[in-house]
Amino acid sequence: MSRLVIVSNRVAAPQQSRAGGLVVALDAALRDTGGVWFGWSGKATRDGTQAVQHARAGNVEYVTMDLSEADVAGYYDGFSNRTLWPALHYRLDLVEYSRETHVVYRQVNARFAERLATLLRPGDRVWIQDYHLLPLAGELRARGVDNPLALFLHVPFPPSDLARALPNHASVFGAMAAYDLVGFQTRRDCENFDAYLRDATDSGEIALRAGRPPPLTRAFPISIDADEFAQAARRARGSAGVRGLRDSLGGSALAIGVDRLDYSKGLVEKFQAFGEFLRRHSGNTGGLTLLQVAPVSRGGVRSYRELRHELERIAGHINGRHADPQWTPIRYVNRNLGRQTLAGYYGAARLGLVTPLRDGMNLVAKEYVAAQDPDDPGVLLLSRFAGAADQLGGAMLVNPYDIGGVADAIDAALRLGADERRERHAESLRSLREQDIHWWTAAFLDALDARGTSRSRAT
Ligand code: G6P
Repeated sequence: MSRLVIVSNRVAAPQQSRAGGLVVALDAALRDTGGVWFGWSGKATRDGTQAVQHARAGNVEYVTMDLSEADVAGYYDGFSNRTLWPALHYRLDLVEYSRETHVVYRQVNARFAERLATLLRPGDRVWIQDYHLLPLAGELRARGVDNPLALFLHVPFPPSDLARALPNHASVFGAMAAYDLVGFQTRRDCENFDAYLRDATDSGEIALRAGRPPPLTRAFPISIDADEFAQAARRARGSAGVRGLRDSLGGSALAIGVDRLDYSKGLVEKFQAFGEFLRRHSGNTGGLTLLQVAPVSRGGVRSYRELRHELERIAGHINGRHADPQWTPIRYVNRNLGRQTLAGYYGAARLGLVTPLRDGMNLVAKEYVAAQDPDDPGVLLLSRFAGAADQLGGAMLVNPYDIGGVADAIDAALRLGADERRERHAESLRSLREQDIHWWTAAFLDALDARGTSRSRAT
């Protein structure tokens, strides 16, 4: 069987102990055939040196490259996170475009391609991850690489008109046409990209390469290892950490949210909705506590720093207004908690509040479902703008922009009887089990193999 080569901006260290489902699944796929995991080391060097590190675990080689501080500023903080991230999450208002960072983004992709090309063997399948590396296929092709090249976009793809509003979009979104296969989280993302290619071709903004068929595009909703996560939650149930949390609640219910501190996650709106719930439904709050875990993210980008201040202000305001000496309505934690601890906390929470304004998939929603006790499960309140909404049929779907609507949904969720909670949970769990993370890797690689075969027939 041909080797697999995975390329991502962040590379999991071999045998990383706190690894999540995606890393574990990709590692397992790599170990099946042997292969390489290639990407940025996460290090920014002051003197501009770009050392390459090699590590090996069994038949998998991990190859990482340092970048200079200037490269990180232009490629990661700059074009990836100030420009592409907001554009892909429908937030043209937050897009900062600069030619300088765009150039650095393309240069870093070219440099990755140069190094990667030396690692590839004929027949290797190359699977590239996410928005940091959109032009990589074109750069590899330009260096004579003829291997099957696939991209999976973990974030949404916006409607064609929004994508075409990005200055010089052809050199990033148009460049996605150089892949053999492009996978998206949802059908909507896939349709948006297909429409983009059509519109941008019709208007002459991009030209598809003659002689090469356009990429195969399909939705492959990413998932988790539901059974493994359920087990982690069961193990954590009696742990000191979970018992401590329960004791601190004194018998009152818990709502939980776990999100990177990112404007796409709708945290401001979530806090506002929780405050509105406390105001409107003061008779039914039952001392409900919202535990919001929000690890700080991308602190080098101004919009993230501003969001952090805004959240501190709102949490302080709501707590000041509603707290009493025995109860703090919002417990706001900026630290990263371990997987096992989180699994236990999800299991202890009567409500999961996952309310992004826009999200590719959102695996927290899936983890929350997997962690519930099927006999006495909690309820998931889920934004209809998360990719996961397509699959978790038992969730209560909400519009995160509708503050009053979410407040009322929290109230309604707290009133659900055990039968309805069990039915909803069973429905979501069924689809989680049918399409778990193992299904995801297998479905994607099967599609790439099938595409590779038809490509070789065509040439
Ligand atoms: C999202 C992206 C990932 C990224 C992660 C964490 O899930 O799709 O590609 O790795 O956020 O963000 P960071 O900037 O810390 O890598």
